[in-house]
Amino acid sequence: MKGIVFTAFIEYVEDSFGDPVAEHMISGSDLETDGAYTSVGTYDHGEIVQMIIQLGKLTGRDVPSLVKDFGHHLFGTLVAGYPDVVRHVGDSFGLVATIDNHIHVEVRKLYPDADLPSFSHTFNGPNELRLLYESERGLADLAEGLLLGCFQHFEEEVALEREDLSDGAGTRVAFTMKRVIN
Ligand code: HEM
Repeated sequence: MKGIVFTAFIEYVEDSFGDPVAEHMISGSDLETDGAYTSVGTYDHGEIVQMIIQLGKLTGRDVPSLVKDFGHHLFGTLVAGYPDVVRHVGDSFGLVATIDNHIHVEVRKLYPDADLPSFSHTFNGPNELRLLYESERGLADLAEGLLLGCFQHFEEEVALEREDLSDGAGTRVAFTMKRVIN
């Protein structure tokens, strides 16, 4: 997993729960790096899983809600880190519709070893978009948080529904997004 995800995660924990919680989380996890990540590095996905489980224990929060929250935060970090990738996009549906054929394609060019999910989408009219997430890593909670971060970024009100098509494994999940028109 790319270092930008790790550095954004540590930043999310420090900002949301404070430095002592971040330090306890790191010291309570068995990490090769001792929590010293760089945004250009590549690290074992298992390290972030361990840290998030520790964070759950330290905060009493359930892991899926923490992953979702982190996804929300991560969207802002990614957009700030790669402004060119989203420059020509005018709204959240425009962005979501280009994840698979543009955004993650550019990510793959930058990092040939990136572990990226697969997405496909269908528009049901201009105000409803269905997105199918597929990844063996089962990070649908992260995807959901990223989508929420995306709606906030464009200051849009969008109702999001989620249907797990993988018996709760989070590896194949359909998201339906409907613009809320006031
Ligand atoms: C709402 C929009 C987006 C969604 C739903 C999304 C979803 C995801 C998910 C769920 C992952 C985790 C890997 C997996 O599940 O297999 C991921 C990884 C990643 N995405 Fe996206 N993404 C979005 C936008 C972006 C943007 C704007 C960028 C920046 C250009 C980006 C760059 C990355 C990077 C760098 C990774 C990590 C790859 C790795 O660790 O090897 N994504 N994305």
